[in-house]
Amino acid sequence: MSTIKLHDKLFEVSIPREEIENEVKRVAAEINKDYKGRRPLLLGVLNGSFMFASDLMKNLDIECEISFVKLSSYQGTTTTGKVREVLGINESIAGRDIIIIEDIVDTGITMQSMLESLGTREPASISIASLFLKPARLKVPVDVKYSAFTIPDRFIVGYGLDYDNLGRNLPDIYEAVE
Ligand code: IMP
Ligand code: MG
Repeated sequence: MSTIKLHDKLFEVSIPREEIENEVKRVAAEINKDYKGRRPLLLGVLNGSFMFASDLMKNLDIECEISFVKLSSYQGTTTTGKVREVLGINESIAGRDIIIIEDIVDTGITMQSMLESLGTREPASISIASLFLKPARLKVPVDVKYSAFTIPDRFIVGYGLDYDNLGRNLPDIYEAVE
């Protein structure tokens, strides 16, 4: 198996691209069914969700729009617990069906803070689509309606996810080697 090095850590493939593609298509099919006849606004959380948002949207056949917000809570491989909004949304979300597109829900703190701030802007509904869920790490209850993979408490990179800004370009998901 091919091992790669990012900064000081070694990583090896844990989820190949074909498997990601299949699960993204499955999530898209669920959204196509649930949002038929509506026009959801996908809200991608930068930077990590950009590949997932792109592939997911390509598989949506309903009317849909997309916008992005930029949040940051991570440094290295651990969350700082404080979420900063680096880039907000300009358009009105009042009356809109929002689907937040996230790369991974870890402690849930990022999603909790995003739900709180979006909730004050009178959307019709908000749901979360996350590529990954790490249930063992959840610190606050977050309802993730759509998730592609549920994974154990391991640090992963690739397909948009990074380790200190490296690894986002990898088409497969890699896991840190202990
Ligand atoms: P939370 O606020 O703890 O749920 O953290 C969510 C954010 O932390 C995600 O959007 C990711 O950007 C980052 N994150 C959490 N776990 C990982 C990981 O295993 N690899 C890369 N980034 C991660
Ligand atoms: Mg993220």
